[in-house]
Amino acid sequence: MSKVEVNHLTKSFGSLKVLDDISFQVNDGDFLCIVGPTGCGKTTFLNSLVKLYDIDDGEILINGEEVDLNKHSIAYIMQEYSTMSWLTVKENVQFGMKVRKFSREKLNRKTEEVLRMVGLEKFADYYPEQLSASMLQRVSIARAFAVEPDLLLMDEPYGQLDLELRFRLEDELIRIWQETKTTIVFITHNIEEAVYMSQRIMVLTNKPTKVKEDFVNPLPLPRNVTEEKFIEMRNKVTNLIKWW
Ligand SMILES: Nc1ncnc2c1ncn2[C@@H]1O[C@H](COP(=O)(O)OP(=O)(O)OP(=O)(O)O)[C@@H](O)[C@H]1O
Ligand SMILES: [Mg+2]
Repeated sequence: MSKVEVNHLTKSFGSLKVLDDISFQVNDGDFLCIVGPTGCGKTTFLNSLVKLYDIDDGEILINGEEVDLNKHSIAYIMQEYSTMSWLTVKENVQFGMKVRKFSREKLNRKTEEVLRMVGLEKFADYYPEQLSASMLQRVSIARAFAVEPDLLLMDEPYGQLDLELRFRLEDELIRIWQETKTTIVFITHNIEEAVYMSQRIMVLTNKPTKVKEDFVNPLPLPRNVTEEKFIEMRNKVTNLIKWW
């Protein structure tokens, strides 16, 4: 069963053609990393999927049907911070859980769990304006993980984080994926990160954008970035990413 089906997706902004007749599927339970040159339309694709943008041609389906944000359980960690400035960290994290009517017990347990996971447990009552860029990004990550989505969309979520936290959240995401088998679409510029986490990697071309390569990452988990097979895979992806 495909979780996301993209058929002949085409999108321009004025005379600028960004996505050029793109088709692919994300299977239920896939962990897909998408890499592509800056400005090729990765964010445009995710924004189109969640209907922030209209598309010019083609279709995007979830579970074989038109996307319905009320029906489909999607969490989207946007490239730009998307915290609600009038709510505290805790209220931001709980927002989606309340919409989904989690029980009080589960809501409290999950809030504690995800705030601890991103290292913000001491900042639960802070407002977004009192936080740094990385902390804001961590609020978005916590909020997305809290709702246990069927489809998790992540747009460069770890770019702002320091290395230690980045490594920890990469491992945490792999753990959550293995445990819940949720479908993940993860956009990154970091080739090592893509090879470390993904079960499948998609490489996009420059604009007008098409899919250049789409392949399964065969390395068994957990991965070790210093192993020969890992380095071979990283080199393979690096060679594919010769956009220039
Ligand atoms: N709302 C918009 N109006 C006009 N042009 C846009 C809009 N959104 C994106 N674009 C253009 O579409 C192209 C794709 O942008 P997009 O943000 O999707 O790229 P991206 O692959 O996410 O890049 P990055 O890796 O830098 O995040 C860019 O050339 C951008 O200037
Ligand atoms: Mg982007």
